[in-house]
Amino acid sequence: MSANGLAISAHGLTKNYGKLVAVDHVDMAVPAGSVFGLLGPNGAGKTTIIKVLTGLSPITDGNAIVAGYDVTRDPMHVKQRVGWVAAEVILDDDLSGWENLWLQARLQRLSDWKGRAEQLLKYFDLIDRRKDKVAAYSTGMRKKMEIALALLHQPEIIFMDEPTIGLDPNVRRMLWELITGVNQQFGVTVLLTSHYIEEADALCDRVAIIDLGKFVAIGTPTELKARVKEDFIELDTAESVTAETLAAVPGVSNVRSQGRTWILRVSSAEEVLPNLFHALRTDEIHRINVEKPSLESVFIDITGKRIDQAGSDVQDYRKFYMNVRRARR
Ligand SMILES: Nc1ncnc2c1ncn2[C@@H]1O[C@H](COP(=O)(O)OP(=O)(O)OP(=O)(O)O)[C@@H](O)[C@H]1O
Ligand SMILES: [Mg+2]
Repeated sequence: MSANGLAISAHGLTKNYGKLVAVDHVDMAVPAGSVFGLLGPNGAGKTTIIKVLTGLSPITDGNAIVAGYDVTRDPMHVKQRVGWVAAEVILDDDLSGWENLWLQARLQRLSDWKGRAEQLLKYFDLIDRRKDKVAAYSTGMRKKMEIALALLHQPEIIFMDEPTIGLDPNVRRMLWELITGVNQQFGVTVLLTSHYIEEADALCDRVAIIDLGKFVAIGTPTELKARVKEDFIELDTAESVTAETLAAVPGVSNVRSQGRTWILRVSSAEEVLPNLFHALRTDEIHRINVEKPSLESVFIDITGKRIDQAGSDVQDYRKFYMNVRRARR
């Protein structure tokens, strides 16, 4: 870490892919020992931020100091000090858990790794399964194995790209505990990306909400949630319903539309719903959803859309792909 106590600091961090600005002048400061989250929809630039911070992809503009080293000038020193858990599966199914660790040690040219590997296997409760082929591991065990590989060289910072994507809720919760444990017991700074609201809320000391390559809000989950006191009502209606009709409903302070969906900012959903039913015919309302103050409503407030609405097919595709990989054998 740097003398200033920061594991990661970036100024004006920018990444262009041709004409596309994937990361747009981002400033960030991640204290050593903390858990920092990047929360945003598909295509927001989360993975790209990880790629530039880990030296995997060159920075277009701005600078970043990671684990005490400038990423552009000293990428090798950065790589030695960071671990990376990709969103995609990286394990070799034909090898055992122990052999995967051995391979990782070879790739990273680690000589003294066996003690650390055993310690990690014990921590992740995989020690009894170390000789089994990874192909026979459950989804949760595979995820643990991937994290163990990323921790093998004792990094100061671990980057986790969508660590729980496509996992069942109970496996997700188990991983949350492990991620918190890795942070606290191994003293590793964690930067994770997610588009699960509850995940960012449960795990992160600080969260940056990212949309179209920009940080649109940053703070602790509590600070972010305190920004929005009002509720949102989302509704799909018949064509006959206009913005004027909705704006005239008592208690509605703002009306926005996203495609065929309206987003109403209201004082209190409980009080406004009866007014809404009074103003519209029942057959004009096709779907209705209430959003109480949460990180989701912060996102809705700033961007006018839901995090999970932008390009949500990608997520399903990944889960599908993961299952195909597992079924192939
Ligand atoms: N290698 C690349 N070449 C060109 N464009 C890219 C490349 N990688 C990413 N992009 C584009 O950069 C933008 C940000 O992508 P990125 O993968 O960082 O998003 P993300 O927030 O990780 O999304 P997701 O939640 O789907 O993983 C997208 O518009 C994407 O299409
Ligand atoms: Mg991504």
